[in-house]
Amino acid sequence: MAFLIWGDQYKVNIAEVDTQHKRLFDMVNEMHEAMKSGKAEAVLGKILDGLLQYCATHFATEERLMTTHGYPDYISHKRIHDKLTEEVKELQRRHQSGEPVLSFEVMEFLRKWLQSHILGADKMFGPYLKSKGVK
Ligand SMILES: [Fe+2]
Ligand SMILES: [Fe+2]
Repeated sequence: MAFLIWGDQYKVNIAEVDTQHKRLFDMVNEMHEAMKSGKAEAVLGKILDGLLQYCATHFATEERLMTTHGYPDYISHKRIHDKLTEEVKELQRRHQSGEPVLSFEVMEFLRKWLQSHILGADKMFGPYLKSKGVK
């Protein structure tokens, strides 16, 4: 069974954002698979690079939608994105300095983060953007 299972409860009903969230779920699941098969540390640098790159793309998409449509909670939402980016960068730094970083705790951290950010902050901009005509 997948580590993170996508379901309608995660939809913010903005097509571009939902597609990107699904991809993030897939990436975290791939990371979990790598960990289970024991080859995680060997491929972790690449996985973290991919995750950082995809997070940057995804956060930029959301931030563009929020600023374009004058979303009132933009600043606090962006702050959460910046914090996550820093946390993943820190994992990358630890990995590069030779520390074993992939663990059950890291996977749980990513799972909880994705779930709570989507169900919390991201869900809140869905209706607002819809009301501005975003599909
Ligand atoms: Fe998001
Ligand atoms: Fe977000």
